[in-house]
Parts: sequence; structure tokens; C-alpha cells
Amino acid sequence: MTVEEFQSKFGIIGKSREIKDLVSVLMQVAESDITVLINGESGTGKEVFARALHGASRRTGKNLVSVNCGAIPEGLLESELFGHEKGSFTGATDKRKGYFELADGGTLFLDEIGEMPLTLQVKLLRALETKEFMKVGAERITKVDVRIIAATNKDLQAEVEKRRFREDLYFRLKAVTLQIPPLRKRKGDIDLLTHYFIRNYCTDNDIPEPDITPDAVNYLREYSWPGNIRELKNTIETAIAMSRNSVLSVESFYHLIRIPEQSSSRNLPMPLNKSAEEVEREFIKLALFELKKDIMDLKNIVLETAERKPVPDVRVHDENEVSDMSMKSAEKAAIIRALRKAKGNRRLASVILGISERTLYRKIEEYDIKEVISDQGGS
Ligand SMILES: Nc1ncnc2c1ncn2[C@@H]1O[C@H](COP(=O)(O)OP(=O)(O)OP(=O)(O)O)[C@@H](O)[C@H]1O
Ligand SMILES: [Mg+2]
Repeated sequence: MTVEEFQSKFGIIGKSREIKDLVSVLMQVAESDITVLINGESGTGKEVFARALHGASRRTGKNLVSVNCGAIPEGLLESELFGHEKGSFTGATDKRKGYFELADGGTLFLDEIGEMPLTLQVKLLRALETKEFMKVGAERITKVDVRIIAATNKDLQAEVEKRRFREDLYFRLKAVTLQIPPLRKRKGDIDLLTHYFIRNYCTDNDIPEPDITPDAVNYLREYSWPGNIRELKNTIETAIAMSRNSVLSVESFYHLIRIPEQSSSRNLPMPLNKSAEEVEREFIKLALFELKKDIMDLKNIVLETAERKPVPDVRVHDENEVSDMSMKSAEKAAIIRALRKAKGNRRLASVILGISERTLYRKIEEYDIKEVISDQGGS
């Protein structure tokens, strides 16, 4: 398989030397069981590379188990990783497999490994070296066959110097290190990624693809992308969702990412201070603001109607019913508006509404809003 074929198989977009080199290293080590450490800023594609590594290995038919070491409370991490026996601690009402066992035969992806508590690092190292471990509260060892991929956005060498990361574990992990460069250091990929995200988003949402002006692409190239590829993806999706015509221009991006004046003078790329989260937050704020206005309008309509038709002798029971009904119709209207605002994209609509996508799906079913969505040309 060529580098290009590999990239298209695993959705790794990029034509820069940096990406090509990384992909060819990845192809070389994919088939072995060697531990790989993936290092890079947030949003650079560490998970994309981890998936490709697993996908290209002989373990591809088995599980790829991802563990976010930073998201699990320290007290629980050991039993989450290695499992536990029934009654081994308060709350351990059943025996349970840990991630190591769940990944048996496959790959264990230890994400944010830099967040792993020192106490557990010793146990992890032992498990990596011997492929065996003790479940919490167990008397016998458990053996597994797993391939380890670890990822972090931290400089582990520096963490070792600060004594926050064990040196022996660091040496064990870093045998093969894939250092993914930030997007601002491979601007040559921005063009390709931009078109890729436009195409994907429009296909997923079944909407026509907008054109993008050369100026707009240049504008994207000048920005420094602190949130890297994730930020680029979000920015493009938001720009498409909010644009009113079929061409993405500089104006489409101007309110989402702002390049400081001085830096437009070519060779002085300024550090930009807006993170991907901030961009998203701004968009959500805007959408919420508009939604709030809509709800106020709706409330006024409901109140006006109620004033015009005084209901005689309403009992408490009926009153509940009435308000329950108007709540429901307000909720339905809010959902329809959010869906329209999001051009039928349910994920975006759920963000606007501040509810989970699953809840949104349930409510769409409940209120039977399907037609509105297809009318809107949504997903
Ligand atoms: N080379 C790439 N080609 C196409 N899409 C990419 C590429 N790299 C990253 N992405 C996309 O960018 C987003 C972020 O990627 P990913 O989750 O892999 O980043 P990450 O480095 O794991 O971030 P974090 O440190 O925040 O966990 C995802 O939507 C991913 O699909
Ligand atoms: Mg990640």
C-alpha cells in the first residue's frame, strides 16, 4: 500500500512532508506489537493516528479500547484498568473486567497518559512489561495480549524532569514516538483539509456544497489555529451552518476567527488567542441569544391567547394540564426553530438547545417533527 492509499483508507488528510513522514513511520510499525507514543497539541489528530495504527495492525478485528486517563478519578483508575473482584472495595458488588482484559487480543489506547497518577504508573509499567497484572482484590494474576498506544499533549520529558512522570515508564513508552506537528506548522495542509471538511459536512447533512473564495482560504491559512484541526473543522461547519449563500467568503469566517491586523502583513504570524472551545462557545451564545428572543416571542403569543380566552373555573388539576400543554408546544416550537437554525443538522441543533443529541432524537420522535427536518433538507 502506498502512503496515499493508506491515508485515504484511514482518513488522514494532508500533503505536507510532516504528515507523509508520520504516515510512513506509522505504516512501518503498524504490524508489530511495539508500543507507540503519540504526542501533539490538542486537536492535531492523535486519535486519528491511533485508530489508523490499530486498523492497519493484525489486531484490527479485535477491540480498540480507549481510556482517557485524565477523565477517570484517581481512586477508580486502577480498577477501571485492571478490573476487580467482587467485594474488593465498597461498591464492588460484582466482579468486573478492566480495560486491559477488554482489549485482550486487540489494542489498548491510553489517552492523556500524562495525567496518570504516579502511584498507578508503577503498576502500569509492570503490566506493560509482563503482560500480566492483578485485578483489584484478586489473588491470582491475569494474563492478556494487548498492544499499547499512548497519547499525550504534554511534554513527557519535561514532566519527568518535574518528577510528575516516571522515567522508566517514559522510556518504555517512547520507543516509537509519533510527534504530530501543530497545524500552524504545516499550513500547506489547510487547503486540503478545508475542502475535505466542507465535502464531509455537506454530504452528512445532505446539503449542496458551497464554493469557497481563494481569499477565504488565504484567510484560513493566516490564522494560527491554537485548537488545530478540530478548530478548523468546527469553524468550517459553523461557517456553513450560518452562511446564507452558496459561497464561503472571508466574511463567513470573520466573526469566527479574527486575525490581528499587524499579522496580515505577511511574515509576522501573531499568536492567536482564541481556542476552539471559545469559538464554539461564541457561536452557541449567539444561537442561544436568538433562541431566547424566539422563546420570549412565543411566551407573549401564549399569554396573549390566554388573555383573550379566559378559562372559567380552572381547577388545579386542569391548570397543570394547560401549562403542561403550553410547555410542550413551546418545547416543540423551540426544537423546530433550533433545527431550522441548524439547517437540519441535529447535532448542531442539540448544541443550540443545550440537550444531548439522544434527547433531541427522542423529542423529535415524541413530537413527530420528522417532516420539518426533511422539509429543511436536514440529515
Ligand atoms: N489528518 C487529519 N485528517 C482529517 N481529519 C483529521 C486529521 N487530524 C485530525 N482530524 C480531525 O480533527 C479532529 C480532532 O482530531 P483528534 O480527536 O484525533 O485530535 P486529538 O489530537 O486526539 O485531540 P485531543 O488532544 O483534544 O484529544 C477530529 O474530528 C479528527 O477527525
Ligand atoms: Mg484525543
